[in-house]
Amino acid sequence: MPRKKITVIGAGNVGAAVAQQILAQHLGDVVMVDIAEGMAKGKALDLNQSAPILGYQGRVEGTQKYEETIDSDVIVVTSGSPRKPGMSRDDLLRINFDIVHTVVGHAAAASPEAVMILITNPLDLMTYTALKTSKYNTGRVVGMAGVLDSARYRFFLSAALSISPHVIEAMVLGGHGDDMVPCAGLTRVGGAPVESLLPAETLSAIIQRTRDGGGEIVKLLQSGSAYYAPAASAVRMVSAVLNDEKALLPCATLLQGEYGFRDIVLGVPVVLGAQGVERILEIPLKEQDRAALSKSAAALEPLCRQIDQWLREKE
Ligand code: APR
Repeated sequence: MPRKKITVIGAGNVGAAVAQQILAQHLGDVVMVDIAEGMAKGKALDLNQSAPILGYQGRVEGTQKYEETIDSDVIVVTSGSPRKPGMSRDDLLRINFDIVHTVVGHAAAASPEAVMILITNPLDLMTYTALKTSKYNTGRVVGMAGVLDSARYRFFLSAALSISPHVIEAMVLGGHGDDMVPCAGLTRVGGAPVESLLPAETLSAIIQRTRDGGGEIVKLLQSGSAYYAPAASAVRMVSAVLNDEKALLPCATLLQGEYGFRDIVLGVPVVLGAQGVERILEIPLKEQDRAALSKSAAALEPLCRQIDQWLREKE
């Protein structure tokens, strides 16, 4: 069977880490596309040179050209501009909207059958942009945020409980930002509700640290943002798609009435398989989690309508 083909757009920190983890997990061959061609070619060469040592079977190609991406099985979008000092969230939204609109237009035309996974921030809005630009079926465009936010939450819980993160089940839902919803009601440790194992104030401090998870790393690094865990989270999703796992993961997807919301992208539990988001699972939420999800959805609503407007202007 020929190896699967995965296109990674943006050969920056996240894109290169995604490529490396795809090789390490033997998921297929990678085409890395970057506007800075040397960056894509250089990192591809560097990764390929680790193959003889690490036993990678896949190969990476670096390019600027979308012809090389034709008939990809999965496309991972990481291209974007980082938030620079003095730049507002709105400025960043417009800049990354333009970048994502451009790259998705090219990539979707070259691979009409792919599943597309978004990583570029602001995540929910870039997923919405990609979905509308690609004209793919709804399920085939999905955003990576919940897997990362849940991993951060599970890691902090595991440290507080001195227990393996693997026995902690958790779902962080909602938008990827200050309004994210680490559902305490869905958090279980070996099957037991987390509230029975941790004092309320410790749990709320962990929830706050999860919300600030990306910012904490940005502050420490002083330049750039997290990439190992974001890449691991995206590759978890790539693997769920390529292996048709039907994995239950919190992912950003377009809602059309589910959870009571319509025409916005929001993080919810989904079944991820070969077709992308094959189903949205409507899990009953505790009242406080439901209210937090509504707040998160309300913040995204006007921004999705803003994107509708920008998309109309580009037609
Ligand atoms: N086409 C292709 N590549 C592009 C384009 C474009 N139009 N515009 C920018 N890029 C590339 C840049 O050249 C750069 O190599 O995207 C890459 C982004 O890489 P970094 O600046 O290193 O950013 P990174 O840390 O990888 O984060 C990427 O993921 O987690 C999110 O918030 C993060 O939105 C950001 C994205």
